[in-house]
Amino acid sequence: MTPVAASADLDVRQHNYSAGPGALPPEVVEEVRNELPVYPGLGASIMEVSHRSPEYTAIHQRAGARMKSLLGMGDDWHVLFLQGGASMQFHQVPLNFLPEGGVADYLDTGAWSAKAVKEAEVVGRMRGATVRVIASGKDGNYSAIPDASSWDLSPNAAYLHVTSNNTIFGTQLAYEPDVDVPLVCDVSSDFLSRPMDIDRYGLIYAGAQKNIGPAGVTAVLVKDAFLQTRQPDLPTILDYGTHAAKLFNTPPVFAIYIVDKVLGWIERNGGLAGMVERNAAKSDRLYGALDATEFYRPTVELGSRSSMNVCFRLPSEDLEAQFIAQAKGEGLRANTHVTCI
Ligand SMILES: Cc1ncc(COP(=O)(O)O)c(C=O)c1O
Repeated sequence: MTPVAASADLDVRQHNYSAGPGALPPEVVEEVRNELPVYPGLGASIMEVSHRSPEYTAIHQRAGARMKSLLGMGDDWHVLFLQGGASMQFHQVPLNFLPEGGVADYLDTGAWSAKAVKEAEVVGRMRGATVRVIASGKDGNYSAIPDASSWDLSPNAAYLHVTSNNTIFGTQLAYEPDVDVPLVCDVSSDFLSRPMDIDRYGLIYAGAQKNIGPAGVTAVLVKDAFLQTRQPDLPTILDYGTHAAKLFNTPPVFAIYIVDKVLGWIERNGGLAGMVERNAAKSDRLYGALDATEFYRPTVELGSRSSMNVCFRLPSEDLEAQFIAQAKGEGLRANTHVTCI
């Protein structure tokens, strides 16, 4: 067998501030590199074997179990690893849970929640159902999360959809909504960055590429009682029940294999409490530096600031372009749009 050439030196990896796809823990990248040609004991790469092999089944089950354990979920929760990105969940959630003639509430806190509303409205039109935006931060350019006291909640909504962290605008819900209906939450860009009061939720979903792995897999966690409220006659592949019942089709094996490793890394680094500490240390330092001068201008109001992605402006677009060029020279990678690192 031909030996595999050593790949790039991990020491040359830059500081990566991209909100998503985001950085993976270096030790995970190294472990994946080492196991890429031959998964231990398998005689082949994990990418080359059946998704029903005992080796892959163990990885799949462990990833689900780790996720549940980190979030303190009981046996009444299902963990699904789906494809189509978080964007597909914008449609799949109402398709499953918005009933004929019913109502679903949505909190509009940024570009991604607006997209979720748009897709729910498609389902609403099909079913003669109503999608209600209970509050929106749009008029203030999404620089703050509308205060919970202003939310115009429907008494009989099938669910309330919220986005816990708004990746583009750098806002984050500082609290978990206290409402009488099941919460559905897009946790794509702060998943597993802090503990959740999981009893409040019916379903949470996250594209993996921000916080827990590479692009290609979406984690969907659904409580069984909520799952049972789904609508009849759904297309098989879009019915959450299909995936809760069994491994229905070929999952994105390689992405899930890496997710499992990242979850192991979170466990070894203090679990979600450890993540809170780590995130606060980084974001407090960054906001502290930004607030210390008039030069940098954080775009988000106090109380809505994200500990995941910190958005700020400089006095002019020319200076912003210079800042980005100089940061690149210092080995700092960031998203290409000027407002967020
Ligand atoms: C909060 C949030 N929701 C949804 C999405 C869409 O995710 P995907 O690209 O996996 O469809 C993103 C992507 O950046 C996001 O940040």
